[in-house]
Amino acid sequence: MLHFSKDDFSGWERFYRANLLNSLSGFKATHLVATVNRQGLPNLSLFHNVVHLGADPALIGMVNRPKTAAPHTLANIEVTGKWTMNSVHPDILEKAHQCSAKYSDGINEFNECGLTAEWKNDFAVPVVGESSIQYALSLVEIIPITHNQTFFIIGKIEHCWIREDLLTPDGFLQLEKAETVTSTGLDAYFVTQSIGRFAYAKPDLPPRKI
Ligand SMILES: Cc1cc2nc3c(=O)[nH]c(=O)nc-3n(C[C@H](O)[C@H](O)[C@H](O)COP(=O)(O)O)c2cc1C
Repeated sequence: MLHFSKDDFSGWERFYRANLLNSLSGFKATHLVATVNRQGLPNLSLFHNVVHLGADPALIGMVNRPKTAAPHTLANIEVTGKWTMNSVHPDILEKAHQCSAKYSDGINEFNECGLTAEWKNDFAVPVVGESSIQYALSLVEIIPITHNQTFFIIGKIEHCWIREDLLTPDGFLQLEKAETVTSTGLDAYFVTQSIGRFAYAKPDLPPRKI
């Protein structure tokens, strides 16, 4: 096994360090995050540091880089308190990746990247029409992480829209069927393959596939 310590990290070239340390925590679901600014102009960006925080209430958290590096999504959420998260599949991967580019203020990234803004159920922020899974959130809390100037943004799920064939009768979402793209680093993308579901683990029972 190769061994590296924190003393090695600081000596690495910036992108080598970012690639390795960003991959360490594993594959992450890649999301297109849509927001609107004060004037209602839509913005899209790509986020994969997204985490489920709980189902009741339904909460999702995501990590926003420092404001200097990624200003628009955070600023729009601070103003409107609303955003949508949209799944990425291989057919829209190139367009989704392009959304991570640093566009100037006032640019509609839906138009720029060739994705469709769709307004649904009177929610103030559009979803990405091409996505198989879309959900809309309202702001609960923005927690500044002072150690590295990032922000943990927590939202409550207000709506979700799911392609019908992805949902099983027990509420399970077949993300592999949706070909939901995952990512590591800032440039590597993957699709996944199911290797089984298991019954709730109990100390006195062996693992059982369902
Ligand atoms: C695969 C991938 C995943 C990314 N994940 C995040 C993330 O979780 N959080 C973040 O702040 N930026 C992330 N980024 C970078 C943003 O997409 C990028 O900074 C974008 O320009 C932010 O746009 P904004 O200023 O419109 O918010 C990611 C980029 C890529 C390519």
